[in-house]
Amino acid sequence: MVLSTGSKKIKTAIFISGTGSNLKSLINFSKRKKSPISINLIISSNKKAKGLKFAKIFNIKKKIYNFEKNILDEKRILFELKKNEISLICLAGFMKILSKDFIKNFKGKILNIHPSLLPKFKGLNTHEKAIKNNEKYSGCTVHYVNYKLDSGKIIIQKKVKIKKNDTPKILAKRVLVEEHKLYPKAISKIFNL
Ligand code: GRF
Repeated sequence: MVLSTGSKKIKTAIFISGTGSNLKSLINFSKRKKSPISINLIISSNKKAKGLKFAKIFNIKKKIYNFEKNILDEKRILFELKKNEISLICLAGFMKILSKDFIKNFKGKILNIHPSLLPKFKGLNTHEKAIKNNEKYSGCTVHYVNYKLDSGKIIIQKKVKIKKNDTPKILAKRVLVEEHKLYPKAISKIFNL
C-alpha cells in the first residue's frame, strides 16, 4: 500500500507505449488541488508514442527505452526513478512486461489499468474476447501489479454494457471513456480520499 506523505504530493511516474489518453487524464487529475500525486516523469517504451506530446505540452521530464535489452533498460529506469524520487508508478497503455526484479523494487507501488473486468480476459484483445464470449458486460480494472500478468490485487472496476452491434473498436472507445475516470478514482481510493 502506498502511503501518502501528508501535504506533499506523491511523486509519480507514468509508463506509456502509445496514445497516452490515460496519461492525459492522469496529468489533468494531478493538477487538481486535492490530487495526492504530482507527475514528475514519463517513461515510454516507444519513441513514436503519441502520448509523448503530453510531456512536451505539460513540460514533464520524459525518457524513452526500447527494451531491446530489457535488463539494462530496467536498470536505467530504476536509476531515473530513484533520481526523481518517484514512489508511485502508473502503467497506462504500457506494452512491456516488467521483470520480477523490477517489480520487487516497487512492491505495492505499481498500478495498471486493464480494459476488461479482471480476472476475465487478461492479456490482449480483451474487447474481441468479451464480444466473442457473448458477455453482457465488459469494462475496465485498475489493479496493483504483481509478478503475474494482469493478476494483482484489484483496486477498482467499472462495468460497461456490451451493446448488440458492438465491434471491438466501438466497445474499446466506450470503455476508454470510463478508464479516464477510473484511474484517478483508483488513486484517490488508495490514498483514502
Ligand atoms: C487502454 O485501453 C488501456 O487500458 C490499455 O491500452 C489502451 C490505450 O491506452 N492498456 P492509452 O490511450 O495509451 O492510455
